[in-house]
Amino acid sequence: MDQKEINITLKTFYGFEQVLSDELVEFGYENPEILNRAVRIKGTWKDVYFLNLNIRCAITVLVEVNKFKIRDEDDLYNKCRKIDWTKYFSIDKTFAIKGAIFSDMFRHSQYPFLLVKDAVVDRFRDEFNDRPDVNVKSPQVVFDVYINNKEVTISLNSSGLPLFQRGYRETAGLAPLNEVVAAGLIRMSGWDMKSTFVDPFCGSGTLLIEAGMMAAGIPPMIDRQHFAFKNFQNYNAEMWEEIQSAAPKRITGLPCKIVGSDISAEMVTKTRRNLRGLPFGRFVETSVNSFEETEKPEGNGVMVSNPPYGERMGEEIEEMYEKLGDWMKTTMKGYDCWVLSSNLTALKFLGLRPDKKVKVYNGDLECSFRKFSVYEGSKRAKFQTGDKEVESTENKDS
Ligand SMILES: C[S@@+](CC[C@H](N)C(=O)[O-])C[C@H]1O[C@@H](n2cnc3c(N)ncnc32)[C@H](O)[C@@H]1O
Repeated sequence: MDQKEINITLKTFYGFEQVLSDELVEFGYENPEILNRAVRIKGTWKDVYFLNLNIRCAITVLVEVNKFKIRDEDDLYNKCRKIDWTKYFSIDKTFAIKGAIFSDMFRHSQYPFLLVKDAVVDRFRDEFNDRPDVNVKSPQVVFDVYINNKEVTISLNSSGLPLFQRGYRETAGLAPLNEVVAAGLIRMSGWDMKSTFVDPFCGSGTLLIEAGMMAAGIPPMIDRQHFAFKNFQNYNAEMWEEIQSAAPKRITGLPCKIVGSDISAEMVTKTRRNLRGLPFGRFVETSVNSFEETEKPEGNGVMVSNPPYGERMGEEIEEMYEKLGDWMKTTMKGYDCWVLSSNLTALKFLGLRPDKKVKVYNGDLECSFRKFSVYEGSKRAKFQTGDKEVESTENKDS
């Protein structure tokens, strides 16, 4: 079974499909198919283990187990009844059916999941005269049912808890960045993992940690032990051991400088606490500073930051973005400065012309991720005066 070719679908957030696809290509997967909030590849169960440990820009790794067409509700039950669910998990494991339905065939949105659940239970009863329990809150095995009109795809969720639950963040601030989003933004920034990486609004340190893990070659899920695939019938502990053993054990340094700061001492303490548990943590420089007091580290590099969005702060936030724009212009020469914010009005107060604008979501929040290349000397024309924004032609998001 382990060598059999399977369809693997990696789910992600809106806007991160391309960076996820690029990441897969870097790992050697050919022709990833870009879908809506997902990317599909072909692989084996070994790849499923590998990706759960190593992929940075995906939320879940799904393994397709069945695909068919249906005529009506009854047909869904009947076709699911024919699937041998007992080969995927044992009766002592709890399970749940989740997914997404884009079809008007069903009387209510949860009904298809009930039908599939009944088919699973009835199939187990046929075989063992007994049934596995359903646990919606924390199931050991989750089947993902995706119905698009008449097409049904059933997959096993091999990850279980979403992959942004990396396990490194003991403490977070009020508005921490999602870990998958942070990794995706860093990839979008094009940072080469050699030049300096700066985040002057580091909060609990998500961007610094994701950057550090990338530069050190540490798999994002190195600290997590729980994966749903361990509950499957075909779980191969030896193969998982082999995949894990390829990860670096000891880190003696980073190939670049990673520098973070925040105005809040409490937040910097959180960052340091989160870094402490990581093998490269001691190489990340942190300090308590307002961005205005922060000096540019020597040489060139990339800044990626999500300053407060402060929708309710009114003029205060606009003033802060104005100061941030001035600081980037005067202090961060030679840097590509990337700013993520959901506050489009405040972003205009940076007073700089973005080279790139990308629409992304941080959780449910629509944000704009903007690149400002801060040149030395003659190219200062890049800066606009006043608060009028010049539209970018690349990756326009608004
Ligand atoms: C949206 S949070 C950043 C969250 C962070 N990316 C994380 O994952 O935890 C914005 C951060 O900016 C910090 N901050 C606010 N004003 C600042 C200033 N003038 N200089 C530096 N940091 C500031 C806040 O303390 C807060 O931690």
